Amino acid sequence: MERDIESVLISADELETKVAEMGKQISKDFADKEPIFVGVLKGCFIFMADLMRHVNIKCSMDFMAVSSYSGTTSTGAVKINKDLNENIEGKHIIIVEDILDSGITLNYLKKYLEGRNPASISIATLMDKPARRKAEVYADYSCFEIPDAFVVGYGLDYNEHYRNLPYIGVLKPEIYA
Ligand code: IMP
Ligand code: MG
Repeated sequence: MERDIESVLISADELETKVAEMGKQISKDFADKEPIFVGVLKGCFIFMADLMRHVNIKCSMDFMAVSSYSGTTSTGAVKINKDLNENIEGKHIIIVEDILDSGITLNYLKKYLEGRNPASISIATLMDKPARRKAEVYADYSCFEIPDAFVVGYGLDYNEHYRNLPYIGVLKPEIYA
């Protein structure tokens, strides 16, 4: 697995530091709001698990599963494979996503959830690739702005592999050639 990685873009130490900072900031900003964290599966699972351990306010968590990608290129279509269990009306929602790329997924999700009348919707993403943005969507919280490279690890996959790497790495180009 490690031999498919060309370089480490974000080390485990850097991830730990930035994710902890984000958790503290969100705790401050939502101190009296009892937010619902909505994780977007599967990519969010490691980031969200680490983030939540640095959130020290009353909150709840729920998950959605969406698919928009096959391989390294967006199909442009977003499909909801698992919806929320909680009623979000009047609640403060924080969407937790692994990476904001074209923005198509989050733009769709945000509009979809807005239809259920939450009090607010914020976006917390581990990484942001602004160079690739196609839809008008911005992260309220972002740990890392990264260049236009396909990355894996810390929850992110290429065709379902590499999610278990403890860092963010760039795949060797021949892997997805
Ligand atoms: P968007 O709709 O183009 O913003 O794509 C968002 C989703 O695409 C993310 O939640 C990821 O699952 C996936 N994605 C985008 N870029 C990468 C990447 O560099 N590595 C792995 N997955 C990615
Ligand atoms: Mg994802």
